Amino acid sequence: MVPANQEFKRYLALTDYVERYVTVIHLHCIIGVEAYDHPELVQLFATFNTTVDQAMGLGMMLPSFLRFLTGISVSWSYSRFRKIFLPIIKRRRSTPKAQAADGTVDFLSFILDVVDDDEQAADLVTLTVWIGLRNLQINVLSTLLDIINAPGLASSITESLAGAKVADLNTFDTHSSQGTAWSKLRASMFESIRLCGPITGPARIISSKHPLALASDPSVHLPTKQVATLSSYYTHRQAWAYGPDAASFKAERFAAGGPDIGSTKFITWGLKGPHICPGMWFTQEAICVMVKALLLEYEFSPESVVADEEKYIYHAGVVTRKEAPVVVKRR
Ligand code: HEM
Repeated sequence: MVPANQEFKRYLALTDYVERYVTVIHLHCIIGVEAYDHPELVQLFATFNTTVDQAMGLGMMLPSFLRFLTGISVSWSYSRFRKIFLPIIKRRRSTPKAQAADGTVDFLSFILDVVDDDEQAADLVTLTVWIGLRNLQINVLSTLLDIINAPGLASSITESLAGAKVADLNTFDTHSSQGTAWSKLRASMFESIRLCGPITGPARIISSKHPLALASDPSVHLPTKQVATLSSYYTHRQAWAYGPDAASFKAERFAAGGPDIGSTKFITWGLKGPHICPGMWFTQEAICVMVKALLLEYEFSPESVVADEEKYIYHAGVVTRKEAPVVVKRR
């Protein structure tokens, strides 16, 4: 983050750096070290994010019979990813156990085990990277920004992280890091995700032939064949769910234990059931590991504090963050 010949660097915003950082790490987790041979993938995924955002925005405005138009630019992007992923897949298939070049296990090994067609495998890699990437980028950035925005929080979390080992980070149990070096960072991460998560939560097509009355308010009917979504942004700010300060960032809110993921109070990864996000455990670990690396390496001094009600910007189904200029110094 700071060039070798400089002591510090002033950033107007951290978004661009963090998005590239997350893309590189996420790609490594999915396709292994070969991701580093293709630096162009970082820009391709950045462009793909914009393409999908635009397709979603346009899709909302177009009548249903014209929505196929939005798929044209998305299909073209898939073909560009295939050119990079197909040779990697072919090389992998020719090695015993389809392992990555450095012998580590990555997600591609699991895809190759169950998908025989190389093009389908390449498209699945693109989709797996992208489907998690946007949310991961938003939530790594949001966790970091919340930590450096709250006076004194970054120093207290950085101190607490001394000796934090990945082996002590059990993301299958939201209470497991209590009393470990990860506790403070993990609690802040859950609070940040609670407030920032994707603007739309689980989405479902109304397949009922007749308008469906809402159980909570039967005077409201869900129109047939339309898509209905639950908003985590709206739900998590309700006083019935998190009390009168539900809309404020409180780093210690989950200090005594993480949220009940998938309950009606915490829907960031969807509701408990067969479709709840299968990436949720990986994501929690990835956010903690990536934010820890940044906090231990750099000191962040924002030039002003951003108020909770001014932190978020919503567009085309995604939440992004408003930032204050920040000075980054190597420790
Ligand atoms: C902070 C990061 C993430 C958030 C907030 C998030 C959120 C969500 C949500 C709300 C759903 C819909 C659940 C439903 O329909 O009930 C979902 C589904 C899904 N997510 Fe995630 N996700 C994240 C990261 C990831 C990652 C990193 C991956 C993969 C590497 C991933 C893969 C998936 C897949 C494959 C589904 C579809 C599951 C299904 O329909 O059966 N997600 N995610």
